[in-house]
Amino acid sequence: MAFAAAKARADFPVFNRRVKGKPLVYLDSAATSQKPWSVIKALTAYYERQNANIHRGVHTLAEEGERAIEESRAKAARFVNAPKPENMVFVRNTTEAVNLVAHGWARKHLKAGDEVLVTELEHHSNLVPWQLLARDKGVRLRQIPVDDQGRIDLEAARKAVTPKTRLVAFTAMSNALGTLSPVKELVDLAHRSGALALVDGAQWVPHLKTDVQAWGCDFLAFSGHKMLAPAGVGFLYGKAELLESMDPFLGGGGMIQEVWFDRSTWNTVPHRFEAGTPSLGDYAAFGAAVDYLEACGLDALRAHEEALTGKLLGVLGAEAGVTVYGPLDPKLRGGVVSFNIEGVHPHDVGQIFDSEGVAIRVGHHCCQPLMRRLQTGGTARASVYLYNTEEDVEVFARALKKVKGFFKVGVKS
Ligand code: ALA
Repeated sequence: MAFAAAKARADFPVFNRRVKGKPLVYLDSAATSQKPWSVIKALTAYYERQNANIHRGVHTLAEEGERAIEESRAKAARFVNAPKPENMVFVRNTTEAVNLVAHGWARKHLKAGDEVLVTELEHHSNLVPWQLLARDKGVRLRQIPVDDQGRIDLEAARKAVTPKTRLVAFTAMSNALGTLSPVKELVDLAHRSGALALVDGAQWVPHLKTDVQAWGCDFLAFSGHKMLAPAGVGFLYGKAELLESMDPFLGGGGMIQEVWFDRSTWNTVPHRFEAGTPSLGDYAAFGAAVDYLEACGLDALRAHEEALTGKLLGVLGAEAGVTVYGPLDPKLRGGVVSFNIEGVHPHDVGQIFDSEGVAIRVGHHCCQPLMRRLQTGGTARASVYLYNTEEDVEVFARALKKVKGFFKVGVKS
């Protein structure tokens, strides 16, 4: 059965508002998703009913609050098929998860001359932490090239792995182009050469079924805010023995077992990595986002997004003077479509779309090296989620024509 996006839309209060006098067409879910009532209510319910700090109190509110948060951890584990909730470390977002691996695992286990391999697709958050590591530890940072459509070339990946490669860190789905990576193949490639594999799942996890055990990856990083949950909560999945081998990243309350004046011992995993009071309500509300997505069904969601992506690609492909980046087959990509209109700056495209109530993202999408590879300074990017409809694509098509008309694209002067 087709996914009922129009019905789902009614669960999201933001669609009750208008933008520039027009109904909101939200095509920026790759930046952050909108939130359904169930998540907003779970967030406010935490502060209305429980608000207490966790791991510190024996009173009823503290126990209830802790239970809500641990339920979110368990749901996160279920959502990505982790063996146990203890494999899931609460973090603020994907960026923090990658930095936790860089600080807790890589700084402890890597030495000068070791290599970390990333791809040309990476978001800055899966690049800059490794640059900092390279600077401080003499680790060499290398990259797997992509082809002109932004696809990872597996042959080039094979050549890029060396006996010195200790970690292959790559995105499962490009935030800038939507390209889907050959995740299992890259994980296997890393393992065959004795390296670990870290998957940046920021864009994949909210949209496609994730199974860390089938992938066999060592780490997976993802954010809640791109999958209907509030901002301020995300996860690092790690294999148990690797998390056990890691040093804490942040020191403070909650992550210790015993503290003397001059030394401390560490708490068990995952609490060892969760110092300080977290975003309590955000953590508690994360579980409601998982409930919502599971009720939608990830397969139905994928089919819906693939169909909408195909329509967006069709609209863009039919217009002269428009360049589309990434693979043209919607099966090879998630619901992200990047494009440029000849002679028009992406920021101008974004402003004209906004005047029609259409929210898209413009710029380098935190992927400056990839933009250089594609020989552009930036793009306009439309990204879909479960609340987008075919009507949204029709409004998108009208906005595109408005930009072309305004800038006289394709009209000889
Ligand atoms: N990583 C987010 C994006 O691609 C912010 O828009």
